[in-house]
Amino acid sequence: MTVEVGTVDSIKPGKMKRITAAGKSLLVCNVAGEFYTIDDMCTHEDASLYLGCLKGNEVECSLHGGRFNVITGAATSEPAEVALATYRTYLHENIVFVELPTM
Ligand code: FES
Repeated sequence: MTVEVGTVDSIKPGKMKRITAAGKSLLVCNVAGEFYTIDDMCTHEDASLYLGCLKGNEVECSLHGGRFNVITGAATSEPAEVALATYRTYLHENIVFVELPTM
């Protein structure tokens, strides 16, 4: 399943956009002009990472400060330990698309 996120300009470098698709809440992140998509929900407890902040290629959770690499999904700082799911994200004619696995 492919989801259209919006134009490249709609997510500025260093910013995140939250989308809902296939029943999932996802975050599309612009890291210096490259786009990456991760699950919005922190793996430590139920907190939206959209409420946190993107610093370079890491998002920091606003609840306990856990961090994740948005490129790989890896948890990089405790208390987060479990990686986030990541989703293939690509550009086509200035539009950002995310591919979700089919059920
Ligand atoms: S809920 Fe995100 S670090 Fe605890």
